[in-house]
Amino acid sequence: MTTDTSFERARQCFILGNTAFEAGRLDEAEKHFLASLLALPGRPSTLINLAATRLRLSRPADAIEPLRTAIAAQPGDAEAWHHLGTALLETQQHAQALRALDHAIALGQAKPAAHYRRGLALVALERPAEAAQAWEQTVSLDARFTAAWVDLGSLMRDLGRPARARECLERAIALGADDPLIRFQLAGLQETAATPEAPPRDYVEKLFDGYAEGFDNHLVEKLGYRTPQLLADGLSSTGADRFATALDLGCGTGLCALPLAPWVGRLDGVDLSAAMLDKARATGRYDRLAHGDVVDHLLKTERSYALVVAADVFVYLGALEPVFQGVKRVLGPGGVFCFSVEAWDEASDAEASAVGQSKGEASQPGYTLRTTLRYAHREAYVHALARDHGFQVCATQRHALRQDHGATVVGLCAWLRLPGA
Ligand SMILES: C[S@@+](CC[C@H](N)C(=O)[O-])C[C@H]1O[C@@H](n2cnc3c(N)ncnc32)[C@H](O)[C@@H]1O
Repeated sequence: MTTDTSFERARQCFILGNTAFEAGRLDEAEKHFLASLLALPGRPSTLINLAATRLRLSRPADAIEPLRTAIAAQPGDAEAWHHLGTALLETQQHAQALRALDHAIALGQAKPAAHYRRGLALVALERPAEAAQAWEQTVSLDARFTAAWVDLGSLMRDLGRPARARECLERAIALGADDPLIRFQLAGLQETAATPEAPPRDYVEKLFDGYAEGFDNHLVEKLGYRTPQLLADGLSSTGADRFATALDLGCGTGLCALPLAPWVGRLDGVDLSAAMLDKARATGRYDRLAHGDVVDHLLKTERSYALVVAADVFVYLGALEPVFQGVKRVLGPGGVFCFSVEAWDEASDAEASAVGQSKGEASQPGYTLRTTLRYAHREAYVHALARDHGFQVCATQRHALRQDHGATVVGLCAWLRLPGA
């Protein structure tokens, strides 16, 4: 039974908890709310504040139980449903999070953050069009919600709406967001912007760390990716029949290892993404795997190679001069360099327009950054690089490399060789 004394103790602790929470002393706030609940168990407002504290302490899993208890006692509390949606979202329980957030909004929770979080849940549930609506709603409620502008901009780019994407990203920058990735995305969307030489490294790293788990299945089974096999098949054009040592640049999960197996003795790899490298390591087909940027690695490795391969990696590198210099450094006489690029020319521009727009001739010769945030390179640029770095071009071939949003990505594969033994 609740006595006046315990009620008063609960009230005092509750007030102390609120004061500590407001001052950002979150550990202290949690202790006060727990003490308050000891004195007066199950009080919904205390449970909700305890949960809010745990959310701010980045312990969403610990917020769920008090919120469920509070909601059982007070099912019409929109704030509690919003917090529950947040906790479920942050513990990756996206479908349940969406239900909780929908409930919060139906109960009158009009905070822009509730709509923003709905958008995050919808993206995770692969419902991008609805996520875009949720974020449009967010920015209509709060035009200064920078994260919503950033995410809406990226999503609009993915949804093939470059003009709206540009507007959103420009709004984000105007509000003070100045992330290299936003600038990079804008460069891919603006006809007139100077083409950056490379993407922000942590963007590529995070992209592939997040993609590693489903990479092989998605790329090979769903997108019809076959560049590793194409590059291996074309090695016969180089006149060589075997390579004692090979380096796989941007080796990813190691998809090149199998088709290269009949051709190479020792195989090494390098990649920016640790998660992709873990998968490559698990194939058991690599002698040495290095974690890092391809150019840095080429400039510092003490190993030399008879073959360097790069399958679908230069889509993440615009300027290829530093790569060519590095490859030349590690290849012995007669060494072979083979790679793929997305083809940038009139024919492929027409095909690529289904997935985005290419920049005009005036922007940068040699390569362009597409709205897909992948680079495409001109065949003439590849030939000029080969010539300038002393390579002979054994063969180039155009191929359909894979699908992207229902369109065929046309690529160029090249096999180059240094003079010598
Ligand atoms: C599309 S995947 C291709 C992987 C593999 N070559 C294949 O054909 O399956 C691109 C890979 O290149 C890596 N990558 C991109 N830019 C890189 C860089 N500058 N240095 C090292 N690795 C990079 C990514 O981490 C990713 O694993």
